[in-house]
Amino acid sequence: MPATANPSWKKLQELYESNKDSLTLNSLFAQDPKRFEKLSTEFKGKYTDANIFLDYSKNIVNDDILKSLLSLVKEANVEKLRDEMYAGEHINTSEGRAVLHTALRNVSGELKQNEDGVQDVTAVLQHMKQFSDSIRDESWKGYTGKPIKNVVNIGIGGSDLGPVMVTEALKSYIKRDINFHFVSNIDGTHMAEALKACDPENTLFIVASKTFTTQETITNATTARDWFLQSAKDKAHVAKHFVALSTNTEAVTSFGIAQENMFQFWDWVGGRYSLWSAIGLTIAIAVGYENFHQLLAGAHDIDLHFKNAPLEENLPVLLAVLGIWYNDFYGAQTHAILPYDQYLHKFADYFQQGDMESNGKYITKSGQHVDYQTGPIIWGQAGTNGQHAFYQLIHQGTKLIPCDFIFPVETHNPIGEHHKILLSNALAQPEALAFGKDEATVKKELGAQASNETLVKSKVFPGNKPTNSLVVQKITPATLGALIALYEHKIFVQGAVWEINSFDQMGVELGKVLAKSILPKLSGNGSTDELSSSTAGLINYYLSHSK
Ligand code: F6P
Repeated sequence: MPATANPSWKKLQELYESNKDSLTLNSLFAQDPKRFEKLSTEFKGKYTDANIFLDYSKNIVNDDILKSLLSLVKEANVEKLRDEMYAGEHINTSEGRAVLHTALRNVSGELKQNEDGVQDVTAVLQHMKQFSDSIRDESWKGYTGKPIKNVVNIGIGGSDLGPVMVTEALKSYIKRDINFHFVSNIDGTHMAEALKACDPENTLFIVASKTFTTQETITNATTARDWFLQSAKDKAHVAKHFVALSTNTEAVTSFGIAQENMFQFWDWVGGRYSLWSAIGLTIAIAVGYENFHQLLAGAHDIDLHFKNAPLEENLPVLLAVLGIWYNDFYGAQTHAILPYDQYLHKFADYFQQGDMESNGKYITKSGQHVDYQTGPIIWGQAGTNGQHAFYQLIHQGTKLIPCDFIFPVETHNPIGEHHKILLSNALAQPEALAFGKDEATVKKELGAQASNETLVKSKVFPGNKPTNSLVVQKITPATLGALIALYEHKIFVQGAVWEINSFDQMGVELGKVLAKSILPKLSGNGSTDELSSSTAGLINYYLSHSK
């Protein structure tokens, strides 16, 4: 059933029409002094100290709207789909697969999940522990007997973004005497620059690819192996310097990586949900297995919260429905994620894939073309840098951009007033976005200059820009795990309401296939007749200018 067929969708459309001009954050706050108490809630982990306080009072919603948004979740059977996902039903319908990243972090065993492979999760985690410990305690030696001092993670998409984002976010826990490099782009520059910083005698390459067929990763891994063998000479030494994280044993072994150096996962782990699996090996080496385990445990705590908390206190559900309100009724095209913690500077990049590859779809699970908006464009960067780049447009531009502000009470680096200044900005921006500044105030401030009408108008802030504030105690492994899982489930809820399959990614195929057919043409082989005159012209331009 398309999302619009739910009775609450119609109701929400009516509520939007009747309220769109009168409903303002200024009036909502003026009417209800208890709005903050009513529209804020806190998640606390059951097994970890992870916490997330959510203030969603600065959203353009009243009780009726919130009620209808939550009814929409009920009508769309989101809870049923959630339970099916947790139970291992094959809810990735186009690929006929289960969606069980929650099984990778089921540290308490509270979730009962059946699917081939689930029983092997603990053994793979054990293998990861033993291997990451051996790198960290230097018992693993390279081919000349030296300990590993450089780790190069070779992967792309979910096999890169998760490890990069988490390694950055947990930098204060990192083992400082090992350098971590991440190579994803097929552009040889990416690999070349990483290799310049490495010594073959002390470098470990972690080839991360679910399918082990991804052109970028296999090309980069082959280049790395050639570079390594130039020094090591003997192929037998590859075993000490290359490991693979994959579901494809055959391709891994034919690449030359021994099965004992392979860390397995399963087809029910989606690429963009894979950092919890063997794909997290680089994280485990970087921050230690115990911290990796805490990351899993924090995510598990959110899995339990998502499963058990009533809808009106359920953080993923609340974030999801508020997003739907702006995306589908206000026509907002984008959503900004703005963490006020430098360690989270890759968080928005990570969820660009997490959200856009999951929900960037126009076909429903039953093959209909949607007649409503699905996934938003996700973007953002760490505060306060964004304030000096794009906040102008959020405050005074012509587009509505809902934003999530994320900040910790405590910093890992308490230096002078830095953290308080940072937080004052994280608090000031949502306040300014919500309540703006009216013409009378501007005129008063301008004094004699108030006669300059253009100046007055350009200094007015319309306000009524919605934001969520997510406050955590500190960016610890458990809290980070919880934050990531929170956004994963938000994406799940939205996809479920929109009736799309959030777990395939057919839209990345066409370009990949075309690139393969264009490749030989760049060496002058094959005709360009089947291509458009534009692409054929560009190929000819390249051929006539390349040396
Ligand atoms: O971008 C498409 C995609 O399939 C992602 O979903 C995935 O994270 C990435 O490519 C990498 O795939 P693999 O891990 O199989 O190399």
